[in-house]
Amino acid sequence: MTEPALIHLIYCSTATHEMSQAELLDLLQQSRKLNEQLKLTGMLLYGGGVFMQVLEGIPAAVDMVYQKICRDPRHHSLILLEREPVSERSFAGWSMGFHHLEAEAGQQFAGAFALNDAGPDLEDKACRPGPALDILRQFARTQR
Ligand SMILES: Cc1cc2nc3c(=O)[nH]c(=O)nc-3n(C[C@H](O)[C@H](O)[C@H](O)COP(=O)(O)O)c2cc1C
Repeated sequence: MTEPALIHLIYCSTATHEMSQAELLDLLQQSRKLNEQLKLTGMLLYGGGVFMQVLEGIPAAVDMVYQKICRDPRHHSLILLEREPVSERSFAGWSMGFHHLEAEAGQQFAGAFALNDAGPDLEDKACRPGPALDILRQFARTQR
């Protein structure tokens, strides 16, 4: 089977500790630099100790960065919600968009996704990604 030209990957995770503004800024600057080089785009949400992120780009670049993200000590308990071919980018022009959520909203998302007994790999996947992408897209609209 031929490799798709473009995929997106969506996951959520739990921060090791409550992230300060300065730590979030560092994380974003670091991410945007590499994402620009790899032509990756996406959106990161953070709130109440919970991250949710979508990455989009060519499969090799998305998978390489996701491997790094999985090993990052700033978070744990990653749940891979989706890794699928897409026909076009939803976050074109965003090397990594960001939205700081109210703590309550972050925890609500975590609750919703943690119900699915999933892990960092797709083999464990038992969850519905549709709502996650809708949530992430909603924040792209509010920021433009
Ligand atoms: C929640 C979260 C999201 C991240 N998102 C990205 C990202 O989009 N792109 C990226 O290059 N690194 C991202 N990182 C950072 C990577 O885990 C890693 O630290 C970075 O790519 C540098 O890796 P290196 O030192 O091995 O080059 C993220 C880390 C966390 C905790």
